[in-house]
Formats: sequence, C-alpha cells, structure tokens
Amino acid sequence: MKNIPNAKQKGGFAPSRQLNDSDKTGAKEVRVTNIALSSVIGEMLEPGFGPQGSKKLMTVVQDELGWAPDINDLTSDGYTIINGANFTNPVGQMFAETAKAVSDEVGGGVKTTIILIGKLLDKAQKLLDNGLHPRTIIDGYQKACQKAVEIVTNETVLCNIHDNASIRKIASTAMRNKIPHNSIQHMIDLITKAAEEASEEQEKDRKLDIANIKVEKIENGLLSESYLFDGWVVSFPMSRFEMPERIENAQVAFITRPMEAFSMGQYSKYGDFIKIDVTKKENIDGFAEKEKEIAQKMAQKIVASGANVVISNWNINDVAFEYFSKRGVLAFKRILMPDLMGIQKVTGGILTDNLDELTSEFLGSSELVYTQKMYEKEYVFFTGKYDSRAKAIILHGGSKLFVDEAARGIKDGLSAIREIYKDPRAVYGGGALEIEVASQLKKFANEIRTKEQLAITAFAEALEELCKILCKNAGVDPLDMISELKLRHENGEKTIGIEPYKKILDDMEKLGVLEPVRIKLQALNSAFETVEVILRIDYSLAAKSSGETKPEEPKTDEEIEKIEQDMVPKVLETTAEGYKQPWEKNL
Ligand SMILES: Nc1ncnc2c1ncn2[C@@H]1O[C@H](COP(=O)(O)OP(=O)(O)OP(=O)(O)O)[C@@H](O)[C@H]1O
Ligand SMILES: [Mg+2]
Repeated sequence: MKNIPNAKQKGGFAPSRQLNDSDKTGAKEVRVTNIALSSVIGEMLEPGFGPQGSKKLMTVVQDELGWAPDINDLTSDGYTIINGANFTNPVGQMFAETAKAVSDEVGGGVKTTIILIGKLLDKAQKLLDNGLHPRTIIDGYQKACQKAVEIVTNETVLCNIHDNASIRKIASTAMRNKIPHNSIQHMIDLITKAAEEASEEQEKDRKLDIANIKVEKIENGLLSESYLFDGWVVSFPMSRFEMPERIENAQVAFITRPMEAFSMGQYSKYGDFIKIDVTKKENIDGFAEKEKEIAQKMAQKIVASGANVVISNWNINDVAFEYFSKRGVLAFKRILMPDLMGIQKVTGGILTDNLDELTSEFLGSSELVYTQKMYEKEYVFFTGKYDSRAKAIILHGGSKLFVDEAARGIKDGLSAIREIYKDPRAVYGGGALEIEVASQLKKFANEIRTKEQLAITAFAEALEELCKILCKNAGVDPLDMISELKLRHENGEKTIGIEPYKKILDDMEKLGVLEPVRIKLQALNSAFETVEVILRIDYSLAAKSSGETKPEEPKTDEEIEKIEQDMVPKVLETTAEGYKQPWEKNL
C-alpha cells in the first residue's frame, strides 16, 4: 500500500516523499470526501447483510480483447466483495485491509464491521456539520466503544462446547447468509461433525485448525449430496499413462522437486543439470537421450524406496510417468503444497527434495488410495490413520458460482465454531445484541456532561442502523419494527430480535440464533479503529516523485541462488531428523 495510513497505526496520513504546497487539499474537504466514500462502501454491503441478504454479481471485464465480461463471483460475502472491488483509492484500500484483518482474525462479521464504519462516519459528518471538533467525536466514539465492549461482555451467555445442539446454533447463525434455506440442516450436520472430528481437546478449551478440513468443490450435483470423507482428496488432470485405480496398503512418497532434466537453481547440486554446447549438432542429438536417462534414474530411486504412490508439487516428466505406470505406481504431479501437506497429515511421511536420501522411512502409509471420476473430473482419495484430524468435505453444487458461495458459507460456519471453541461466550443475534447495546449506551451518554455525549449517542444510533438493515433486507418497514424492538428491550426482554423469515420480532434464545462473542467484539473494535484513522486524516498531500529512479543493479549468481532458495517453502529446508510437521509448530 502506498502512502496510506494503516488502520492499526493511528497516526493519520504520513507523506513520505517531496511535497508541493499546491497539491494540498484542505482538512474539511478531505474529511467530507473520505466520509462520503466510506459511506458508499458501507451502503454497498447493506443489501447483502443478514440471512435474507441479496448477492452481488461480480464480473471481470476483459476489455482489452473486447470479450464479454466474465462472471467471477456471485456472493454476499463481505470480504470477497470488498477484496474484489479492487479499490485504488487510499480510503478504499483501508477498508480492504480492515476486511482482511477481520476475516483473518475471526472468519466472519466483515459486513457488520464495514457497514458500522460507514454508519459511524455518516453520523460523524452530521456532528462535524454541527460544529463538533473531530477530536471530540473520536474521544466520544472511543468512550462509546469501550462501554459497548463492556455491555457486550455482560450480555454474553455461556455456550456448552461439548453439546452438539449448542454448536449447531452457532454454525447455523454463521452460515445462514450463504447457504440456501433448504440445505442448511444438511450442511450444519456436515460441518459440526467435521469440526468435532478435526478439533482436539486442550487443557482449557478446544482447538480447531480449519486448515485440517479440505473443501473439495464438485461443480455438479446437489448440496444435499455433499459428505464428509475421512481422509484427504485432490483433483488431478487425467493422465496419458495407464495407472492403477486403487492401491491398498499404499506407501506414499512426497517429492518436492521437479522430476525432469532442467532442474535449475538449488537442484543443480543434485547433479541432474545438463550442460550442453549448442554449437555442436551431436550434443543436441544426445540431449534427449540424456534427459530420458536422468528422469528414469529419478523414478528408479523413488520406486527403490518402496513407494507405490508418488506425489509431487512440481512437474513429473513423461519418461518418469511411463516408468511409474509400467510398475503399477500411481503418480500425481503439480499437486498444490497445502494438498501435499494435507495428504501428509493423513498418511504421515516426510517431504523431500533429495531423491538420494529417500528411504522407506520417508514414506507415508495409507490403507487405501483410490481414484474416482466424478462428472468428467478425476479425484484421488487418501485414507490414513496418521493424523485423524485431517478431513475432507466433498461439496456438491450445481455450478461453480454456487459451490464457491457454499464453500464460503462452510468457512464461516467452521470459523464461528473455532471462535466459540476459543471463547465459549456467545451473544444473541438477529439484532438483539445491537439494540440492547444501543439502549444501554444511550443511558450511558446521558451521564456524560460534555459534548462527547453527542458522539456516544451517535455510536448507539449507528448500532441501531444494523437492525434497520436486517429489517429492510427481510422486506419489512424498519420504522415500526425497530420502535417495538426498542420498547421490548426497554422492558427487559433482552433476547428479542428480528426473525427475518416470518418478518416478526421473536425470542432469539428460543430460536437458537447465537453468535460467538469474539466476532462481535472484533467488529466493534475494528470499526472504531478504522473510523478513528479516517477522522484523523486532515490533509491529503499528493506526493511527487523526485523523478530519479535508480536503475536496478545486476545481481550476482549467488544473489540469484539466494532469491530462488528463499522462494522455496520453509518446510523443504528441514531434514528427516529435524522435521516437524508444519501444523505441529503452532501447538
Ligand atoms: N436465523 C437468524 N435470524 C435472525 N438473524 C440472523 C439469523 N442468522 C443470522 N442472523 C444475523 O445476521 C447477521 C450476520 O449476517 P451476515 O453473515 O450477512 O454478516 P457478517 O457476518 O457481518 O458478514 P460476512 O458473513 O460477510 O463476514 C448477524 O447480525 C446475525 O445475528
Ligand atoms: Mg456472517
């Protein structure tokens, strides 16, 4: 990001290059523009908010060749929309950073955060118009945010993480926005089972690493045909060579280097680098022979280790493939690193890029490895007992757009379960929490005798706006419903919220609309942080380049080698003895 303040470094705008006075824009003007833009970004996400939210059709315009636009995504996912919008404006990029931070941290609640930022800034603009100083608004918002966190904490209920019924409520609330109503029960069954089996009990809580669960998207069939597979699955391009369809008691070799003669950079140390003098014809003729010989030697070494299944994240050339095929060995090339590691979780085994060190100790073991064709695509399934936490969800859906969105729903559901495992405190959804916090915040504002009172009230009103959006998206006029909702909360009915399907107010406790408190707290804190940064920007300075661009120095061979080695995943640098599974490092 160039010359933009980071949402977390609250210093405001910090130009780093030469400036010209004529490029300055006044404080008021800059704030008005930034707030207006933030408001538009927030509004963009509003229609997609909540269980009845609509979807955005995102397209990639391939204008250079004059092609028709490509449909890239059909989604209501906050992070996907903000990220796909590809903002070039600094404020837009700040939103993208906030969305990423929230998504990385808690997995959901991105729309809540972004809409809240828009509403808080909208209200801030009105206060600025009425003569309040930005500092007063920031201080008021800060007090409100702190108080809101306190209120949220008091309003939590404990979720029994060992009780499947409670976990189902958490998953259901998180996935509603992305999974169609008629398939939701099936998907809840699936992901609660996946989460339970992929997680482990710890001293104080339960730990779920969602990277343990692979979601394999099959662009065909019905969502209700989706199932949980006890192992790992990968799709692969159909091979030209005949391969066995199933191997029982498989011994799996994990190869993290190319299996061809042109192994450059760090692989040249293994001696399979062909140097030829192209000025001599006989050298060129001999090249193909030499290449074949090298590939065959590599394949020989692998088979000699006892492997009958070979997986590589690099290319395997045809000579090696043919060698494997003749010996009944199943081989898969260009498998992505996360899949390589997933299979490794299931079967054990050690990744290696040195075929000379490959022995039976490096091999993973699987009771059964089998290939299966599903709707014109080939998949390979690995079973194994090494780490029973590794699972795969085979996700069926009518089209690419449909399965992509369902996969995001699964991610939301699993993330919410992960968050409730971390902290079992939950809050009621459907706007019940937001309206309760707003009501208590307004009472708190009345106790404040300074102008900050106005900002605290504005914070409360911004939270009420989230409830109004839930109503609007359900097709209900928010005016009547929100007044009644406020009244019932005033009367102590804290669990009453918006039931968007029947378009009524109902008891969220009875309906089981529960959310992890961590998601709500993250949304509040991230929204305040971003609002603070945007309000603190008082000048926009168009930084001018000095015009002197230093030509890049030519690199030495050693430097090039170092760069290449840095590009190799860290996991490759470990030896057999010192090897630690990548996911074990975090335990
Ligand atoms: N069954 C339900 N009844 C009422 N409200 C619900 C129900 N399920 C979810 N909600 C509400 O929907 C809101 C969440 O909607 P949504 O998932 O669209 O937003 P988000 O989580 O902020 O964004 P994103 O999922 O894109 O990161 C929450 O306020 C939640 O309480
Ligand atoms: Mg959500």
